[in-house]
Amino acid sequence: MLRVGIVGFGFMGRMHYRCWKALEGVEVAAVCDADPQAFDDTNTNRGNIAGAEGGVDLSNVAIHADLGRMLAREQLDAVSITVPTYLHAESTVAALEAGLHVLCEKPMALDLAEGRRMIEAVERSRRVLQIGHCMRFWPEYVKAKEIVERGTYGRVIAATFQRLAATAARKAGGWFTDERRSGGMPLDLHIHDTDFVHYLFGMPRSVSSFGAPMPNGGLGHMATRYDYGDEKLVVAEGGWAMMPPFGFQMRFHIALERATLDFDLHREVKLRLSTAEGEASELKCEGGDGYSHEIAHFACRIGDRNVPAVITPEDAWNSLRILAAERESARLGREVRIDRFENEECRHAV
Ligand SMILES: NC(=O)c1ccc[n+]([C@@H]2O[C@H](COP(=O)([O-])OP(=O)(O)OC[C@H]3O[C@@H](n4cnc5c(N)ncnc54)[C@H](O)[C@@H]3O)[C@@H](O)[C@H]2O)c1
Repeated sequence: MLRVGIVGFGFMGRMHYRCWKALEGVEVAAVCDADPQAFDDTNTNRGNIAGAEGGVDLSNVAIHADLGRMLAREQLDAVSITVPTYLHAESTVAALEAGLHVLCEKPMALDLAEGRRMIEAVERSRRVLQIGHCMRFWPEYVKAKEIVERGTYGRVIAATFQRLAATAARKAGGWFTDERRSGGMPLDLHIHDTDFVHYLFGMPRSVSSFGAPMPNGGLGHMATRYDYGDEKLVVAEGGWAMMPPFGFQMRFHIALERATLDFDLHREVKLRLSTAEGEASELKCEGGDGYSHEIAHFACRIGDRNVPAVITPEDAWNSLRILAAERESARLGREVRIDRFENEECRHAV
């Protein structure tokens, strides 16, 4: 039996709770949150994607207000770190030093230096550290990667990704909209597509980004072109300046030489393949969502280290590097090379 704890019982903590409970051979033994109201079932702390709502039964689960106390008192094998982003590094390092495997939500950390500290801690601990870049596990994104890599329809001509939300209007005043605690829109929202572009095509050579500020500061919307030194056009757009009735949207279009793939979260046919022969068909994907698949993968890697990691800590750190270059490019108004974010002076970037 794998004994698991959850640190931070807000929107994502509840999502992880739901996913862990669905796995066989797992016991959610403890949860921890600094705010006692987090355990109140009337607390409808909703995020962008449905799935974490509804009551949870914590009757056989130890409840703590503090991670240190939870680590000292409970016999756990692994933890989900689902606290606000500015606490990812310190919580992850503490849990690894206590000998636990760690699944930490994305983004890895607020900056490259914090991310590096997490990598050093996992190397000392010989435990598993996985960062919650759930798009690598999202069924339609997984299927699109499979098709691109199989090469049946030729090479990629263009790929565009979009992620738009009403976060800033809905969550104004909290840690989410405080750039120093969440990293703002680029690090909180847009990094999902940055990481997927990285997963699908590898590290770009450079990025060209354009951004629009929110009235109270910070980038509210941005678009980036990722340069791979070849002819394909890869673009991702992210923004959280939409108004609440808009809700949330994630989409992509991938133009191949002999087919088009397109995904829309809210369409009945979510992932479509249009071929040169004039047929547009629905592509059936695995059930479930990226959260449940990433948590199952993490559990699997704890049980068998020979299972190849879909995301290593170094991968997550490299996604932070790409994002640091995107921010710098938007600030300077010109193309920025990724290798600029390798040296010591840039350790605090992002
Ligand atoms: N993978 C995704 O799609 C996805 C979606 C949403 C959020 N996230 C990430 O998950 C993390 C959490 O986001 P959320 O939406 O759940 O936020 P949230 O505000 O709903 O929940 C965070 C919880 O952590 C608790 N907390 C704060 N400080 C604490 C401390 N010191 N010790 C223990 N608990 C503490 C808060 O009381 C709150 O209940 C963020 O890093 C965010 O970027 C990922």
